[in-house]
Amino acid sequence: MPDDIRIGVFVCDCGTNIAGVLNVPELVAYARTLKHVVLADEGKWSCSVDYLGRMQDLIREQRINRVVVASCTPRTHEPLFKRATREAGLNPYLLEFVSIREQVSWVHMREPRAATEKAKDLIKMGVAKAALLEEGEEIRLPVQTDCLIIGGGVAGMNAALSVAAQGFRAHLVEKEARLGGMLNRLCFLSHDRRRMPAARIVETLAARVAVHPNIRVYTGTQVESVQGYIGNYKVALKANGAGAAATVGISTIIVATGMREIEPVGQFEYGCDPRVMTQLQLEAALRNRALGAVSSVVMIGCVNSKNDTRGCCNIGCHVAVKNAVAIKTLHPEADVFILYRDMSLVREEGEAQKRAKQMGVKFLRFPEQRYPEVRTEDGWLRVKVYDLLAGREFEIPADRLVLTTALRGDESVEQVKGLLKVSANADGFFQEAHVKLGPLEFASHGVSLAGCAKAPMFFKESCEAGIGAAMKASIPMKRGYIETEGIVADIDLTACSQCGLCAKRCPYNAIRVDAEQNPAVIKALCKGCGLCAADCPNECIGIVHYTDAQVLAQVDAALEEDPGRKIIAFVCHWCALGGVDMAGVSRLQYPPNARLIRVMCSARVSIKMMRRAFESGAAGVLVAGCEFPTCHYIQGNYAAETRVKRAKKQLARAGFDPEKLWNVWCSAADGPKFASTMRTMARELKLES
Ligand code: FES
Repeated sequence: MPDDIRIGVFVCDCGTNIAGVLNVPELVAYARTLKHVVLADEGKWSCSVDYLGRMQDLIREQRINRVVVASCTPRTHEPLFKRATREAGLNPYLLEFVSIREQVSWVHMREPRAATEKAKDLIKMGVAKAALLEEGEEIRLPVQTDCLIIGGGVAGMNAALSVAAQGFRAHLVEKEARLGGMLNRLCFLSHDRRRMPAARIVETLAARVAVHPNIRVYTGTQVESVQGYIGNYKVALKANGAGAAATVGISTIIVATGMREIEPVGQFEYGCDPRVMTQLQLEAALRNRALGAVSSVVMIGCVNSKNDTRGCCNIGCHVAVKNAVAIKTLHPEADVFILYRDMSLVREEGEAQKRAKQMGVKFLRFPEQRYPEVRTEDGWLRVKVYDLLAGREFEIPADRLVLTTALRGDESVEQVKGLLKVSANADGFFQEAHVKLGPLEFASHGVSLAGCAKAPMFFKESCEAGIGAAMKASIPMKRGYIETEGIVADIDLTACSQCGLCAKRCPYNAIRVDAEQNPAVIKALCKGCGLCAADCPNECIGIVHYTDAQVLAQVDAALEEDPGRKIIAFVCHWCALGGVDMAGVSRLQYPPNARLIRVMCSARVSIKMMRRAFESGAAGVLVAGCEFPTCHYIQGNYAAETRVKRAKKQLARAGFDPEKLWNVWCSAADGPKFASTMRTMARELKLES
């Protein structure tokens, strides 16, 4: 530790968001008593231009060389304070961020005294870590101008055109024999059939792509391997069948692999009776004029969606109404029924529903707990439905039954996910870096995400997402370089036993072992998840800004007083902290026992860290990460779960109660889950006052 540590603590009122619950002057006075703190200051709105200027002046005047900001969540405001710190002449890695709004004032509103005490602890923990912070630096990598786009659907084609229009080279790879993706299977994209014939849209887009001098199209081709990192990828392409292979040098990548339907095999007679089909199969029949004569068509909405495993599919209602209009246009005399749970339509789609009603399409709403039933009798499909509005049951004979079924990512997702080291959710939709702050990119630098590879989208949304992803990819290509955050692994070879475990465990292949068996980190590939550091048997790997010493200093500071009433909660920066923040934004109240320690991924939490908390008398320990399989570092949460199981055994052998070590995996939207975990832990650990 350097001799002259001068820490400045800046505590924000956030108007009344923080000061309305916490005693901020008391926090400031408390901060002044902490070791190494030479200044503590209260700011009404710390993120305002005025206060940031004051903060910078104080840093310079007081020769502050470590900064602790106690305010809102680092997920939104840390970059701003980092910039301000840098502009004040201080290395931004010497800043520590403490959340006393989302983690304290918003969630303990009825307990201002206990909340203020908790905030003091969090500031103390921040100061303890800040004293150990070291300078870091961004990593600068050169970036050239070739972009690979995987998927030649509407999002991929728009991305390619946008990349090419900016003067960069686009390599558009499509596994099918022709461009167009799902559009090749659709009939019309709107209930207004004159405006949106799918075939014509594909034709026009594909023609523009084909003649553009900056676009090279590879149809009937798949990506076989990807090596390297942003600015320096080597991508091997392989034509389907016995076709030729090619290797291209690529700087950025856009994933636009699209989606597919989940076939409801065995439900509603699907797969048993050929007259039962999905919306996509109906589209194909309409497009090929192969529907045949129909007198009664029934559609059932929300098949396998809006249930415990997945949410609304976003587009199903629109598709059902559009196709109902198409059937009525072709067969005006046919009866068409849409059986729905909820009709989710906006603006123009509402117009479509009006038109459908004018044409005679009947809409019946059924309850969530009582889906329609289907049987075959006398050559008819008979659909029994309880109509909520009429308050009675109907039986509708049908000669076609169309299921608006849930959707999932394309079948290539698993392979692409493995090649690019990115995450996808249980439905095979790729997971963006951050729902609001990074919706078009992955955590891996240089890889963007477009269209239905992320979630079901309408045509217009897919076009926009393709263009948006192209913009994202173009930024480093235009600039000629990228600077990536310096939170990376650092190996001290003095204690290394050359076991090679770190290289084997790294999800990004960012650790290479040389001829002498010495491991080395390729910083451009390392994402700083900390899995290697937590698993290293000799503790010789540090993660910049999250070293063992820094995390353990936070544990020790938190448990200095009254440890038996405290829970140490290690939370990953992504979904778990997102859940914490969401609980705060939603003002969900829970007991104030937890002292949160942020790590980039739950995989960073070593058994030593958990054990230190128990040795220091913690009432309980929580390891919180992203829900499966959506860890932002591919498989960090799996590693963390396995490690927690191991830790329980070791804790039991050491005489600690393993039941006091908890896990929770939540999504960034899952504030209620985090809050209820806190309540349950406080109750079961007998911490309720
Ligand atoms: Fe959340 Fe890995 S990033 S568990």
